[in-house]
Amino acid sequence: MKIISDIEPMRALVNRAKAAGKVVGLVPTLGGLHEGHFSLIDRARRECDVVMVSIFLNPTQFGPGEDLDAYPRKPEADHAGCESRGVDAVFAPDAEAMYATGGLTQITISQLSQTLCGRSRPTHFPGVCTVVAKLFNIIPAHRAYFGAKDYQQALIIKQMVADLNFPIEIVVCPTVREPDGLAMSSRNANLSAAEREQAPALHAALLLAADTIHKTHPPADEVIAAIVAHLSARAPDGQIDYVQIVDPATLADVERTGRPVLVALAVKFGKARLIDNMLVDGASANP
Ligand code: PAJ
Repeated sequence: MKIISDIEPMRALVNRAKAAGKVVGLVPTLGGLHEGHFSLIDRARRECDVVMVSIFLNPTQFGPGEDLDAYPRKPEADHAGCESRGVDAVFAPDAEAMYATGGLTQITISQLSQTLCGRSRPTHFPGVCTVVAKLFNIIPAHRAYFGAKDYQQALIIKQMVADLNFPIEIVVCPTVREPDGLAMSSRNANLSAAEREQAPALHAALLLAADTIHKTHPPADEVIAAIVAHLSARAPDGQIDYVQIVDPATLADVERTGRPVLVALAVKFGKARLIDNMLVDGASANP
């Protein structure tokens, strides 16, 4: 497995593979790899001839006072994990290389970026879109793999790819969870023991909401109130950032639940901000 930190050799490697007729897959990450990331890598490994993983803790998607400094970094373990999963090359640039030209250009997808995580993190999605566009230009893969845990991010990236005609297919993969339901996240490493015990309440609240929606299709604000009550009781150390029920395509808030909706929430435990979501089909019973 190659570890490449410079842009031109990375692009040359991908272009050589494409010239040889290989299908190239890309998995972009911030590092601190866990089984959620590895599920994307495994899927790319099954579907592509060549798998590239980018590991870049992108500073521009973190706002002032957020957890950039505390973000788990473990490059040796990340590289070993990639190697064991059959990754062909890791792209691990430093911020100087990525933003050598000044980083004056920003991509903003306004409509989808101003709700959910974008409300409390207004600079986050412009940072994500811009770095992902750069990665698509540096690693011109056929397919790129993203996780449904970051539903809003995946939707925004799909919109960017469509709007800007990137010749890349976006594949969205299911959320991987701990046995107690907590969505895997690099940020889980920063939870205290007490917070870790409370954190599965996020997923439990989503399951409860899905069940209620299936049974009685209540107004969205009633479901939101029930989720907030569940979180207040089961995760008292968590500070709720948002609980929203939105249209899965537009992310606009909905009033009624008798139709497919996305239930999404974010809760802060100290500086660790955890997110989770669930797509709920308004009609049928949840498996
Ligand atoms: P990061 O948080 O490292 O996540 C990289 C990819 O792994 C994302 O597509 C994310 O949705 C996916 N992922 C994370 N946890 C997951 C889980 N439990 N189950 C399934 N997939 C999961 O998202 C980013 O990095 C960055 O914003 C990035 C796209 C790399 C741009 O910097």
